[in-house]
Amino acid sequence: MTVPVNPLREGLRLARTPDPAAVVIFGGSGDLTSRKLMPALYDLAHLRQLPAAFTIIGAARGAMSDEAFRAEMHDAVAAFSRHRPLNEEVWGSFASRLRYVSTGGTGGYDELKHALEASDAEHGTGGNRLFYLATPPAAYAPIVRSLAQGGAARGGGWSRVVVEKPFGRDLASAHALTEALFEVFLEREIFRIDHYLGKETVQNILVHRFANGIFEPLWNRQYVDHVQITVAESLGVEERAGYYEQAGAIRDIVQNHLLQLLTLVAMEPPAAFDADAVREEKVKVLRALRPVAAADVAARTARGQYGAGFVDGDRVLAYRRELGVAPDSETESYAALVCYVDNWRWEGTPFYLRTGKRLPKRATEITVQFRIAPHQVFSREASAGLEPNALVIRVQPEEGISLKIGAKVPVQGVRIRSVNMDFSYGASFVVDSPDAYETLLLDALRGDATLFTRRDEVEQQWSFIDPIVEGWAAGSAPLGTYDAGTWGPVEADLLLARDGRTWRKP
Ligand code: NDP
Ligand code: BG6
Repeated sequence: MTVPVNPLREGLRLARTPDPAAVVIFGGSGDLTSRKLMPALYDLAHLRQLPAAFTIIGAARGAMSDEAFRAEMHDAVAAFSRHRPLNEEVWGSFASRLRYVSTGGTGGYDELKHALEASDAEHGTGGNRLFYLATPPAAYAPIVRSLAQGGAARGGGWSRVVVEKPFGRDLASAHALTEALFEVFLEREIFRIDHYLGKETVQNILVHRFANGIFEPLWNRQYVDHVQITVAESLGVEERAGYYEQAGAIRDIVQNHLLQLLTLVAMEPPAAFDADAVREEKVKVLRALRPVAAADVAARTARGQYGAGFVDGDRVLAYRRELGVAPDSETESYAALVCYVDNWRWEGTPFYLRTGKRLPKRATEITVQFRIAPHQVFSREASAGLEPNALVIRVQPEEGISLKIGAKVPVQGVRIRSVNMDFSYGASFVVDSPDAYETLLLDALRGDATLFTRRDEVEQQWSFIDPIVEGWAAGSAPLGTYDAGTWGPVEADLLLARDGRTWRKP
């Protein structure tokens, strides 16, 4: 028997080749463009998923010739594309559509307008424009205004703007940024990036929950004891201290990636897999999050900063000794918190969130831990090795899903041990997953905003985070420390210990 599909729902999330378009990347000479955006665009070209009529204009203030830009992008793609070694034929065709425009001097935006008109005339890009803001955030609003003033924002077709994170640094600045974007673009033309939403395994959370009939009946306070969501990184602050010192783990990861993962785990089934239906349900979860009142900051959150230690056998510096970090920095490189979704489904079920840099390994995973069986038929000795059932969604690396269940050890008599039923992407599918940026760029070109955050979503996220940041600034939940290569400060363990629980080791 085949599974019936609702014909009205088919194709709501579009899978067609995008329209002809010109892509303008502001920050074309930056790190994100080299490491992520240009390799993703090349990979899409390699897979023939870009339209035949397609151009890319790199834009930044500095001067650079088209040739120099192509040479720089050639090296970036050769280093970071997932289709290596680089195919010179694909690259040749791709490179012929690349241009660079300096927007630094007077007349920069006129030149950009002319470059877009030339793209339409010579390449048939039809006046469709995708602007990608990959500059420091302070430049987002001025760029959009200059685009409009220079007459480059619209070319007779559709125009969209993709906005990189961070989207503001609190509710007020996020609100102000949206208002600035609204001077030129409509909400449906604004695509706010959270690259976690582009990851295959993150999208699979919804497939797992809503394409299967067996999980949803258990997915509630009655059967779920608690949920843990971990975004662990072994990397340190790298070369991004300038940004990270102002952001810390709470703004860098909790406000966006962790809260987004929480919404996907906690949301109600949407009526359809389309942008409005999915985002409507996600925003309801964010609205239902129990605020962290000033008096609760110490009890519901923990933070820490890494000291020197060993990661992967290498000695690494303390956060305060990293390049660009103040020697007395109070910025947290680790954050943990307890969230409650105050609604019918989840009332009283804790969602424990944590993230940190310089932890022992890179691992993002979600654990849904179920309640133990109501009555133990087997003796205490027989059940000694039994742990609660848990569904573990491994977002990265070793993407997959495991269900922990009790099984009889094959010896005489009854002895029970917990074992894993495993699904692994690598073993089940022969194709590599696309990079998150491939998925998101393609969706933006198709006009599908399902995997981008809506205005009310991002504002709800900040509304939840702002009181925590304020509480920390006022001295609540003092900054703990942890050695690099360990699982975070003791304060984070105490957060769960108060509830009689422990963090799961990824
Ligand atoms: P970089 O500092 O490497 O690059 C910044 C780029 O922006 C440069 O090309 C710079 O060139 C350009 N730029 C600065 N001001 C302007 C302006 N007014 N108009 C046009 N171009 C301008 O930054 P990243 O690439 O690391 O980051 C870019 C954005 O992406 C940031 O918002 C960051 O938070 C976000 N991001 C980055 C990640 C990463 O891994 N790098 C990860 C996630 C998000 P010039 O000085 O010549 O103008
Ligand atoms: C970014 C953060 O959004 O996500 C970085 O700014 C972090 O600090 C990165 O390292 C992690 O992304 P990923 O895809 O490697 O898990």
